[in-house]
Amino acid sequence: MTRFYVMTLFPELIEQVAKSSILGRAIGAGLLSVEAENIRDYTDDPHNHVDDYPYGGGAGMLMKAQPVYDCYRSIQKRTGEGARVVYLTPQGRTFTDKMAEEFACEEDLIFLCGHYEGIDERVLDMIVTDRVSIGDYVLTGGELPALVMIDAIARKIPGVLKEGSGDVESFRGNLLEYPQYTRPEEFMGLRVPEILLSGHHANIEKWRREQSIERTWRLRPDLLPSAELTKKEREFLKKLTEAEETEEKNKETEAEETKEEAE
Ligand code: 6GU
Repeated sequence: MTRFYVMTLFPELIEQVAKSSILGRAIGAGLLSVEAENIRDYTDDPHNHVDDYPYGGGAGMLMKAQPVYDCYRSIQKRTGEGARVVYLTPQGRTFTDKMAEEFACEEDLIFLCGHYEGIDERVLDMIVTDRVSIGDYVLTGGELPALVMIDAIARKIPGVLKEGSGDVESFRGNLLEYPQYTRPEEFMGLRVPEILLSGHHANIEKWRREQSIERTWRLRPDLLPSAELTKKEREFLKKLTEAEETEEKNKETEAEETKEEAE
């Protein structure tokens, strides 16, 4: 049982998403839980403020340390010490599928969602163990990134996905997934690749591996150096690269010929 705790100013947002779809089913099945804790409930400010002006001046407001700290302490009473606290920030380490696998081994995970221009650094220094970003762009708050992480981590927890459906997904072995097709056999004149109708499982497996390799090479060549490939598959990849080089040379020659003709 993995327990996700989310410290946020928008608990309804977290709860709405958590109860839908595969996440909701996993919660129902007792495989994980998601608890959203409203940071505002912990403020000792008479007007319920959770933000204030930054010392030294500058634009915007900052989240105060006190409500964040007291919210954390309340959660910590339930988790005990040692639970990791993930602060969602564009300044963090970029989240990857591999990190999702690592986080999925934890019993308790606490997420801290910031808003406004950020959070008083002192409370971050005190409680945060991991600073994580979901990519190089800036969002208005940490809620969507927290949900992205929870979704990606949840599907690594045994039992959350149907048997086998995580086996061939993109990024397994650092390769993208092969293309897939369902009925009908012909759609707007486009046929399903014949090999998939052949019933020959070994050939289908080989075709799918090659499709994965070719896709990764075309769409995400940056993944290939760390991809898990057999010697035969490395040769297949080399042929792809060579075929393209030949094609490019042919194009160049053709262009030169057309140019000469014009002259
Ligand atoms: Cl984790 N937070 C915010 N506010 N913006 C982001 C992000 C996180 N990751 C990318 N952009």
